[in-house]
Amino acid sequence: LAPGAAAQDMAGLRVVVSAGGTQEQIDPVRYLGNHSSGLMGIGIARAARLRGAEVILVGAHMDHEPPAGVSVRRVSSTGDLAATMAELSPQADVVVMAAAPADFTVAAAAGHKIKKVGDAGLSLDLVQTTDVLATLAASRHEGQTIVGFAAETADSREHLLELGTAKLARKGADLLVCNDVSGGKVFGQARTSVVVIDRDRIVAEATGSKQVVAHRICDAVLAQRAD
Ligand code: CTP
Ligand code: CA
Repeated sequence: LAPGAAAQDMAGLRVVVSAGGTQEQIDPVRYLGNHSSGLMGIGIARAARLRGAEVILVGAHMDHEPPAGVSVRRVSSTGDLAATMAELSPQADVVVMAAAPADFTVAAAAGHKIKKVGDAGLSLDLVQTTDVLATLAASRHEGQTIVGFAAETADSREHLLELGTAKLARKGADLLVCNDVSGGKVFGQARTSVVVIDRDRIVAEATGSKQVVAHRICDAVLAQRAD
């Protein structure tokens, strides 16, 4: 191998990774959003590409540039993300849902800017968005690996694993990358700490830069596929 070249252990794999946070329009000037920067998904896309995979990054309002050599599809709302993932997933060997989709959308977005009326407050009628990960897992094809993330505010590692195990079962994914987001950890930060689980056990644990952790997640995907 040339100096700095990564092992091409993901060559031949088609990987679709979502990243960033979706936004739901309230009116033409306002939206509901979240603090996802896209770093974790971008890190996985970069790692998979360096290791020889063909990668498509589905990006929702990412704060960072996509890696070189990766195709990018931009999306805005959870509905857009759901449609794009449904389009790309049938051709993918590995699907990674690192994006933070808004869980709620406005039942009826206003077509005009909502104006203040006197000193009255405002209530918004919200409805749940499509669960993209659960939908992809339910329609997964033979040989496809579906990876989800779980952002939890857990008070201990045991609690994090308990919440993660329940979430993995609910979603029907193959692997779930669990991280504790309490106290401003993770979002927008360069470093993270994760526990990766499958339906039976912990398959990996990693702490470090999101790029290092991204490689450990790719290792876990390859190990799962070799099982
Ligand atoms: N996810 C998704 N579609 C949604 C919400 C979440 O595909 N509408 C995916 C995320 O990309 C992540 C996983 O589901 O891979 C878990 O996201 P998380 O926010 O932790 O779980 P939720 O199911 O939304 O549950 P809650 O936020 O209530 O804990
Ligand atoms: Ca959520």
